[in-house]
Amino acid sequence: MSNRLQGKRAFVTAGAVGIGRACALAFAREGATVIATDLDEKTVALLTRDGVAETAKLDVRDTAAVEAMAKKVGDIDILLNAAGFVHHGTALDCSDEDWDFSFDLNVKSMHRTIRAFLPGMLARGHGSIVNISSAAGVFKAAPNRYVYGATKAAVAALTRAVAVDYITRGIRCNAICPGTIETPSMLDRAAAAGPNGRELFVSRQPMGRLGTADEIAALAVYLASDESAFTTGQSFFVDGGCSSALS
Ligand SMILES: NC(=O)c1ccc[n+]([C@@H]2O[C@H](COP(=O)([O-])OP(=O)(O)OC[C@H]3O[C@@H](n4cnc5c(N)ncnc54)[C@H](O)[C@@H]3O)[C@@H](O)[C@H]2O)c1
Repeated sequence: MSNRLQGKRAFVTAGAVGIGRACALAFAREGATVIATDLDEKTVALLTRDGVAETAKLDVRDTAAVEAMAKKVGDIDILLNAAGFVHHGTALDCSDEDWDFSFDLNVKSMHRTIRAFLPGMLARGHGSIVNISSAAGVFKAAPNRYVYGATKAAVAALTRAVAVDYITRGIRCNAICPGTIETPSMLDRAAAAGPNGRELFVSRQPMGRLGTADEIAALAVYLASDESAFTTGQSFFVDGGCSSALS
């Protein structure tokens, strides 16, 4: 621990597993007081064993619950929005319900938490918001990631908009665009691709391996900390070279 986030309070959504969990734990290791939330109350509660100060159940699709949580939590310095869902399929596979669910969970959830926590950040004159987008959709499309890619491009645009609107008021907002990261839902998607699904996913990686959630959390710590004080409105790719390598 080098206390890069000493004295800061961080709020994390979808913190029970995967990238959200890794970010919550990394923030705590760096000295932040972390409040980690998730729909899965039991699993997120396990993080208190590893230095997370508080955990709570929070459905980021529930506006009233997000607003009530923000009131209860009070001032924060760091907001990490991790909640997201990967819908598999093309435009023809995406019903109106699929579209609405994906935009509600992947994009509107971030609108909800930002609206709930931003006034407190503005009152204190500082805050760092980190949104988890994806390498799929922001600049390049991935096959069968029609609505998912659209939501993640929207996350990058929402991130830039918040950054621009509050650039003179001490608020920074950045996004991280992970490639294929080994998390529970990613392993489910690999399993759905067949018995050798994981190998198939690995074979698409220019580095010959999947990314880890800790490799995303490392950048989240930097963006959350004052080390990145001159950085806002950006979307950073952590994708093992996927988006730049020739296929
Ligand atoms: N894993 C990857 O390869 C990858 C790649 C790019 C982007 N991402 C993004 O990273 C983020 C995290 O994905 P992951 O794969 O690390 O996690 P995951 O999909 O394995 O887990 C998601 C977590 O979100 C929680 N959740 C689901 N609905 C919720 C709700 N309504 N309110 C609160 N919590 C809810 C779940 O309980 C679970 O703990 C997502 O936004 C995802 O799109 C992941």
